[in-house]
Amino acid sequence: MSFPENFLWGGATAANQYEGGWNEGGKGISCADCVTRGSRTKNRKITYKTPDGEIHEMEVFGGSAPDGAQFGCFEGYDYPSHEASDGYHHMIEDIDLFGEMGFKTYRLSINWTRIYPNGYDETPNEEGLKFYDAAFDECHKVGIKPLVTISHYETPVGLTNKWGSWVDARTIECFERYVKTIAERYKGKVEYWLTFNEINCIAFGGWTAAGVYKNDPYSIAMASKHQLLASARAVQILHETDPNNKVGCMIGYALNYYLTCNPEDVLATWKEMNKYYFFSDVHARGYYPAYKLAEYRNAGIDINLTEEEKETLKNGTVDFISFSYYMTNCITVDPDAAQVTIGNMSMGFKNPYLKATDWGWQIDPTGLRIALNYMYDRYQKPLMIVENGQGGIDELEADGTCHDQYHINYLRDHIKAMDAAINEDGVELWGYTPWGCIDIVSASTGEMHKRYGFIYVDYQDDGTGDGKRYRKDSFWWYKKVIASNGADLD
Ligand code: BG6
Repeated sequence: MSFPENFLWGGATAANQYEGGWNEGGKGISCADCVTRGSRTKNRKITYKTPDGEIHEMEVFGGSAPDGAQFGCFEGYDYPSHEASDGYHHMIEDIDLFGEMGFKTYRLSINWTRIYPNGYDETPNEEGLKFYDAAFDECHKVGIKPLVTISHYETPVGLTNKWGSWVDARTIECFERYVKTIAERYKGKVEYWLTFNEINCIAFGGWTAAGVYKNDPYSIAMASKHQLLASARAVQILHETDPNNKVGCMIGYALNYYLTCNPEDVLATWKEMNKYYFFSDVHARGYYPAYKLAEYRNAGIDINLTEEEKETLKNGTVDFISFSYYMTNCITVDPDAAQVTIGNMSMGFKNPYLKATDWGWQIDPTGLRIALNYMYDRYQKPLMIVENGQGGIDELEADGTCHDQYHINYLRDHIKAMDAAINEDGVELWGYTPWGCIDIVSASTGEMHKRYGFIYVDYQDDGTGDGKRYRKDSFWWYKKVIASNGADLD
């Protein structure tokens, strides 16, 4: 076992799932703030008001709302992002715990609505800027390099209500203003950046990734184009502001295998994977891939990509590729060939060789090695795994301990796969930030009891709990892993 010197061991969270404090410190409402709590069997919903004053709910994936809908938060609904893990009031203490574990990096997102409450505001909110100043200063105090996601499912709902959010090109200008503000403000404090979290999530529904409530193919194509352009602009702005900045993209990578060697299954799998690769192809290569242009042409979608926009994409390619990796699925054209299964933003078929988590996500460490190789081979750019882990149920013992051996097993197996990818296959991997390094609310279900963390947070789904933090068994284990630079995984 050997990991590169300076390997970035760490952990990851997102503001909307961790911070809470949804209306404190001058913060505006983000698209995540309007999403209700769900469960494994109950879908989360997005709330909005129609001009007649009626309140309605919309499905997160595939739903749509009428023109004139005003999205927001209303009395009587339970929105998990509003309190989340109360990171807004525990940030410093939590960063100190990450420091105690020996983190080299901490991936966190800046909530756009703390900086520009409506998205389209002309001037930033100083209180929001100060909040992240304090976080980054604390990181440096304890030897952590922040890795910042600029947009992690936190599009200001003000932009949705004004002009439909990312479907409209004006959102790019608002995003540029936001990026310039944080690039200048945090120059010297932040060196590693990610533009959009799981940008490809938009292919499965516009709300989460982009605050888009129209899910027709044209709206999704335009919102995707605008985000890709915005990402390219962000890369340029960050490089101009500080040549030390390293800017990456972030793809939700659910690797798909073909269920059988039927060529139709192979073809269907290739098509499914293109939903993921399309975004990283543009980010890394600086132009739209032929398969996507052909798909748009055949669907009669004209995204009207101008020469100037092509230039922007070309000049805004990323320095490294990052992705989330939790699971794999199988693809087949025969719906009766296997049982359907769900996963991170995806649906597929069950793999008879794999076990699944309590939430049905199939556990596949070897798939991570394959994913790393596919990505490295495709782009030949450094990689980072910025999310990985197993969401599960943890019991807090009376003495404050928490025996989460299943987290340790999952992470150990995936770290071994990383080691093989680096040392046996030659992949250049910069870092590893397991997801939800402290317990946070789940993005897909809004549950608090789907826990990934090394640190237990005493909040429950019904809002009870005092928010106190407790070190789980995995905390001590990961501390040892980092201290030995991945050599000691026992
Ligand atoms: C990724 C997201 O899709 O998966 C995170 O970037 C999310 O925001 C993570 O939390 C795990 O998913 P879940 O649904 O278990 O929280």
